[in-house]
Amino acid sequence: MSTERDDQEMTHQEHAQLITKLPKASGWIQQHVYLYQGNWLVSETILGVMLMQKHFKHRSSDIFLTAFMKSGTTWLRSLMFSILNRSQFDFSKHPLLHQGPHGVFPPFDSYVFKDYPMTNMDVIPSPRLFATHIAHSLFPSAMTNPSSGCKFVYVCRDPKDVFVSKFHFSKELRPKTLPPISFDQAFELFCEGVSEYGPYWDHVLGFWRASLESPNNILFLKYEEIKKEPEVHVKKLADFMGVPISAEEHENGIVEEIVKLCSFEHMKNLEVNKTGIQRFDHGREIENRHFFRQGLVGDWKRHLTKEMGERIDRITQEKFKGSGLTLGVNRE
Ligand code: A3P
Repeated sequence: MSTERDDQEMTHQEHAQLITKLPKASGWIQQHVYLYQGNWLVSETILGVMLMQKHFKHRSSDIFLTAFMKSGTTWLRSLMFSILNRSQFDFSKHPLLHQGPHGVFPPFDSYVFKDYPMTNMDVIPSPRLFATHIAHSLFPSAMTNPSSGCKFVYVCRDPKDVFVSKFHFSKELRPKTLPPISFDQAFELFCEGVSEYGPYWDHVLGFWRASLESPNNILFLKYEEIKKEPEVHVKKLADFMGVPISAEEHENGIVEEIVKLCSFEHMKNLEVNKTGIQRFDHGREIENRHFFRQGLVGDWKRHLTKEMGERIDRITQEKFKGSGLTLGVNRE
């Protein structure tokens, strides 16, 4: 009789065979990205997705933070963790202060790789929080079906700011042994949809459409709107996660305290985020400081020409036409 470990080993072998056959293109962080079920992904992510699709056992209480890379995952990690666990911690000794957003709320992929077989995940108390960049279409329907009970918080951001943020982040992470990828080259690739987890527009639309169908299971947020009204969004997130802020908590200023704790300036200047490192099971390391760059809305104006901005806006308008979604086309 095959064990869970044998089944997962089989998935590793299937992945090794599959990767040789998939269409590939230039990656931004690694040498190549591969087209897997309509998404451009690095090889390890494809393995993670295959493991998830075949072996992950969801719980009806699971909450997933999902986003295209560089859309605000780090911020939402801090917000969701501190909202959900607010009664457990004294804010002056909060785990976020010494572990950082990635320490308290690790990526889903790191569990998928570390857990072999996926047993460590089983001991995480409910509700489990998982952060991932995986597109909506890649999750098994058993998880995205509203009857699963799983909840998804999706955060999106103006693609022009996403592009700029992603270019800088990728430049830091790309091994020096690979030829660097130029700004213009990255821009062309982004517009063609080719970048890790891309195409950007399909990623956003996947969650947008699903959120219209299942608003109780998918909370669709915009980075720019959270910036404008962080308090409103803390309350929204608390309601969505099933832990609404009480009138008493409100009076005691919990919402403002959470907003302050998770603010860009506060988080960026914590020692853990200046010097800490994330170590992933497939050997990758990322310094925490790379997750905190400018934290601004509209930083793209300092990096893109007017024509480049207009080109991304045109693609966005075309792709989102008829969807009811607008994003980043307001040039104010
Ligand atoms: P910039 O590169 O434009 O500064 P992700 O967390 O999905 O990787 O996205 C990273 C982007 O979010 C970066 O954008 C980063 O600076 C910004 N960011 C990180 N923490 C933030 C926070 N607490 N508030 C607002 N933006 C934040």
